[in-house]
Amino acid sequence: MRVGIGYDSHRFDDRRRLILGGVPIADGPGLAGHSDGDVVIHAVIDAMLGAAGLGSIGDLFPDTDPELEGADSLLLLEDAVERLERENYQVINVDVTVIAERPKIGAFAPQMSERLARRLHTPPGAVSVKGKTNEGMGWIGRREGIAAIAMASIDQIRDTDALLASMRTGGG
Ligand code: CDP
Ligand code: ZN
Repeated sequence: MRVGIGYDSHRFDDRRRLILGGVPIADGPGLAGHSDGDVVIHAVIDAMLGAAGLGSIGDLFPDTDPELEGADSLLLLEDAVERLERENYQVINVDVTVIAERPKIGAFAPQMSERLARRLHTPPGAVSVKGKTNEGMGWIGRREGIAAIAMASIDQIRDTDALLASMRTGGG
């Protein structure tokens, strides 16, 4: 078993709509960024890549890549999961803390877990998302942006397990 940690932050941008953990949220301004600015997914991707020793989100998806402009971060997550699975890794669980004065994460957390879990190939119960304020302190307290911290644990499937799984799904 291996674990990884990921961090991300994005500045608010009134002209954009807010997407967190793949869920569009009407409450509040969106986040700036080359992609859709989904700070939750970016932290999760970095945690997974870190756990697998596969580098970082910036290596895989450079913000200079014109193709990634406005990109749906759920697709970036899918791509990262594929890279892990190519190395025989599977995600065991993910835990995310979103640090923001607003929006309140609680109401959206189950939907985020469900959307993330579908891409991570885990049950929804293996993906935890929760919110904290920064108690009004600093740039987060001044509502300049949102930060997210994620942890991912992964496991390398042994060859026999992989063989059995592929037999079950009718593969080689
Ligand atoms: O009470 P404490 O200082 O520990 O935490 P807080 O930052 O005041 O947040 C209280 C509770 O509000 C959290 O435990 C979350 O359940 C919820 N919360 C949230 O859902 N989304 C946020 N962006 C901030 C807080
Ligand atoms: Zn980001």
